[in-house]
Amino acid sequence: MSDVQREVSLERVLDIADELNQLKDIDTILDRVLLESRRLSCARAGSIFLRENGLLRFRYVHNDDLYAQDSNNKHIYTNLEVPIDEKSIVGYVALTGETLTIEDAYRIPPEAPYHFNSSFDVKTGFHTRSLLTIPLKAAQNQVIGVLQIINSTDCAGTPVPFTHHDEMLATVFARHAAAAIERGLMTREMVLRMMQMAALRDPKETGAHVQRVGAYSAEIYHRWALSHGVSIDEIRKRKDLIRLAAMLHDVGKVGIADSILKKPAKLTEEEFAVMRCHTVFGADLFSHAGSELDAVCREIALHHHQRWDGRGYPCEAVDVDNLVPTCAGNPGLAGEDIPFVARITAIADVFDALCSSRSYKEAWSDDRVLAILRDERGKQFDPELIDVFFDLLDVILAIRDKFV
Ligand SMILES: [Fe+2]
Ligand SMILES: [Fe+2]
Repeated sequence: MSDVQREVSLERVLDIADELNQLKDIDTILDRVLLESRRLSCARAGSIFLRENGLLRFRYVHNDDLYAQDSNNKHIYTNLEVPIDEKSIVGYVALTGETLTIEDAYRIPPEAPYHFNSSFDVKTGFHTRSLLTIPLKAAQNQVIGVLQIINSTDCAGTPVPFTHHDEMLATVFARHAAAAIERGLMTREMVLRMMQMAALRDPKETGAHVQRVGAYSAEIYHRWALSHGVSIDEIRKRKDLIRLAAMLHDVGKVGIADSILKKPAKLTEEEFAVMRCHTVFGADLFSHAGSELDAVCREIALHHHQRWDGRGYPCEAVDVDNLVPTCAGNPGLAGEDIPFVARITAIADVFDALCSSRSYKEAWSDDRVLAILRDERGKQFDPELIDVFFDLLDVILAIRDKFV
């Protein structure tokens, strides 16, 4: 490779680092890190593991030979943990902090402490050849995870080994990636903390519930946007915002008194009118800052209880700025007047509530839950988005299994 090309590549790495800094949600950051690190060496596949409770937890995967890159991918929600020890390649890299370049996964010298686990290849028919495995090092050289890029190719798509140059570029890139990942993890942690505050008031709003609602909403948006010709860059950007904002759908419950939130019996009409105000309280939290994320958070917090047929809440008469506490008897927004992101979150939130056990009810069977969603198509829920939900059911169920 000439010096000019090398310079261009380094420049590209710095440009991407800049772009990574614009992203907020951890899953969007991982997706982008994987995409760009694979692009540097035309690699067919890759995965990211992050350190969690003394183990490496599988967090993201791309594989051009097995899944279409731009479509929804249920495999990113796979549950898999690997010990941090010398036996596996990712474990070895996390333990030693060294980058490993392997020309052929099936020809690792027998004296090497690590070995290649071929079970994924056996299960899927994929053939792993070259591997570049890089530690993700944050401040003070602390390894927060491992980035693995698989099957490097040349411009014509022919398999080639990773070069020293690939290794050098990927190492520089991994430094920036680790910083972005750390920031994304911190943002996610902050969102979960905010929801924990709401959960102190309302035990239904657990961390797992909000992670599921965020992921369902992000994936429903992704599938809808793909079928409407939205560019993949725009999809990635919106998905980033929607996941975080959907997680915060019920944050306004911090403003509702315990006597109502935790009342074991049915609410009176007056109490229910106060309860409905969690939408307005939530929206109010995001009403003063001007970022795009705040705008999406506000739309979802305010409108996630709207119904497609107009029988939801809050009603149009609610004066958000003055937090008028009741709108009993007045209709809410209907149809496409309801913000799109709120129509998505409404489906995600209700599906998750019906599938979960609560103090007053058991979790419902899948058949019963899906029958209700189908029945409410065009009544409670946007009919097109319900169709998208059913189209995506395998991804939805993978998410449900991931966050328990
Ligand atoms: Fe709510
Ligand atoms: Fe909820």
